Amino acid sequence: MIPAIDFSTPYSHASLPPRSRERFGRPRVVPTASGGEEVRTRDDRELVLRAIEPGDVAAMQRCFTRLSPEDVRRRFLHAMSELSTPMAQRLCRIDPAIETAYVLMDESATPAEMRGVGRIYVDEALASAEFSVLVEQSWSRRGLGALLMQRLVNDCRRRGLAELWGYVLMENRPMLELCRELGFTQRMIPDEPGTALIRLVL
Ligand SMILES: CC(C)(COP(=O)(O)OP(=O)(O)OC[C@H]1O[C@@H](n2cnc3c(N)ncnc32)[C@H](O)[C@@H]1OP(=O)(O)O)[C@@H](O)C(=O)NCCC(=O)NCCS
Repeated sequence: MIPAIDFSTPYSHASLPPRSRERFGRPRVVPTASGGEEVRTRDDRELVLRAIEPGDVAAMQRCFTRLSPEDVRRRFLHAMSELSTPMAQRLCRIDPAIETAYVLMDESATPAEMRGVGRIYVDEALASAEFSVLVEQSWSRRGLGALLMQRLVNDCRRRGLAELWGYVLMENRPMLELCRELGFTQRMIPDEPGTALIRLVL
């Protein structure tokens, strides 16, 4: 059975601030003439959601410089002091047969800034895809991580895949919570005590 992505599930956060959907509501998404989608958060910030492009290298490198060491470790699962140009080029020039990557671009800045990225790598032999997602801290808790993840889930279903999975550090409570909300299951990896394998059967 396909687990539904249900944002209305009641959930108690005794020690957390009010749910972002209570503070902001979910972002509104409207298609644009250029093929992307306009995303407006309920606190009236505007972004464009679109497929990643080879020309996004400089914006991706600038985005990397704004990340905290903790965010870098949570996203890449190890410390990195810089995002080299070859690596950024590789991340921006995807092979659509086996990859999908969406970016959230802030076009109110000049040049436009990348505020979020969500991507999958497909393993055709296993009919599965590995995900990664990132939202810049000053844009977090506005439903953007959930939006990117939902798009990735939709893309996996469109591709007819059976499973979406990813490694998430056990200390990464925001991501574990986000995945739990989206219906992912979590299990420990015996050889990697600090890392969880997160999985959604599609
Ligand atoms: C994890 C991450 C993607 C979340 O992005 P986000 O845009 O803040 O997420 P959302 O606003 O869509 O949050 C959706 C749900 O996730 C959970 N969540 C997100 N941030 C949370 C936090 N700091 N504490 C607890 N729960 C959190 C909540 O359940 C939240 O719903 P709510 O706000 O209605 O309570 C972002 O913090 C990030 O990029 N972290 C660094 C990179 C990373 O960890 N990537 C994941 C590994 S690939």
